[in-house]
Amino acid sequence: MNTRILPVDTSSITFGSSDEPIISDAVTRKNLLAAAAILHDTTDVVGFPTETVYGLGGSALSDESVRSIYRAKNRPADNPLIVHVSSLSQLKRKILPEDYEIPEIYTPLLAKFWPGPLTILLPVFPSSPLSLLVTANQPTFAVRIPAHPVARALIALSDTPIAAPSANASTRPSPTLASHVYADLQGRIPMILDGGACDVGVESTVVDGLVSPPMLLRPGGISVEDIRKFGGLAWENVVLAKKTAGKMEAVRTPGMKYRHYSPKAKVVLFVNSGTGARVEEYIIKNGLQNKKCALLKSRFFESSPLIQVERDMGTTGADISRNLFAMLREVDEMGVDVIFVEGIDESNEGLAVMNRLSKAAGEIVDGGL
Ligand code: TXA
Ligand code: MG
Repeated sequence: MNTRILPVDTSSITFGSSDEPIISDAVTRKNLLAAAAILHDTTDVVGFPTETVYGLGGSALSDESVRSIYRAKNRPADNPLIVHVSSLSQLKRKILPEDYEIPEIYTPLLAKFWPGPLTILLPVFPSSPLSLLVTANQPTFAVRIPAHPVARALIALSDTPIAAPSANASTRPSPTLASHVYADLQGRIPMILDGGACDVGVESTVVDGLVSPPMLLRPGGISVEDIRKFGGLAWENVVLAKKTAGKMEAVRTPGMKYRHYSPKAKVVLFVNSGTGARVEEYIIKNGLQNKKCALLKSRFFESSPLIQVERDMGTTGADISRNLFAMLREVDEMGVDVIFVEGIDESNEGLAVMNRLSKAAGEIVDGGL
């Protein structure tokens, strides 16, 4: 299969009051319509930008489309997918029963964060049109409205709820550029919409408000601090999901039981390590002086003559989130043997960053400082 990369100009897309996309650029309109036709008329899948990471989308209503997603990514079928809708009205019209009201616990969160990088769980109804493969047989489904104009326009034009995991090959770092999607999935999917770099850089936050107390299943683009702050009383006591799942347990959150976010090189994550002197110590202790080593640093780590490749992830949580996956991929492409990463504080954006890094890491070194 030949994989086409089609450019789209995000700034040419706006939304009217009816959630209908208004697209001023003719090429963008043509390319969005071509992608929407694949989603609406075939069981093939399309790579597209969201504000978090690039998604690999297929109709959430079709078993065959969902199978195409799992197949292209080589993703284990017991890891459920997030459904993406273009608006609340599309969610109601296409998925929910007519008389169903979204549980009130979500109201403040949806008012504040939708469209955006927040995913909520809702019950699957007996009459649900969703493919059972989307939910991996769980009694709930996960749904969000992406804020990225290309994603929203694509979903609106196809008039179809879209199941979309990150558009990487399973176990690889999530893609934040169209070229990342191409590197992983060329020849396996017909089309990638190229809308430039993703702004958030880590996946959406997944919350479950159907249990009491409510749970955070995956940290992501919306911080748990903001969920507590804007969610209303019930969310002040939100519980963080535990980090590992037994083999027999259904997967509640990604990476709980599978390798995830991994470059080819070994990732060594340093936590509580001050200025990073322990990286040199590690290189010497493990006899890596002749290996090609990369360092992804943030605020405190210093350069070393023992490290050939260095990238600065930035100092704010937002910058580090945005850069993390792209820099892991970039230095990996340079053929390094080991990637050392400076761990950061787990507050605000740091929780999602450290969640991804601890799953990507083959080893975590705690400097004890
Ligand atoms: O930012 C994102 O959310 C990206 C972009 C493309 O939108 N999408 C994404 O989708 O990360 P995906 O399918 O990789 O996320 C699946 C994760 C599951 O591993 C699990 O944590 C959660 O979403 N999830 C999905 N359905 C669930 C369910 N029924 N119950 C619990 N968790 C669920
Ligand atoms: Mg993923």
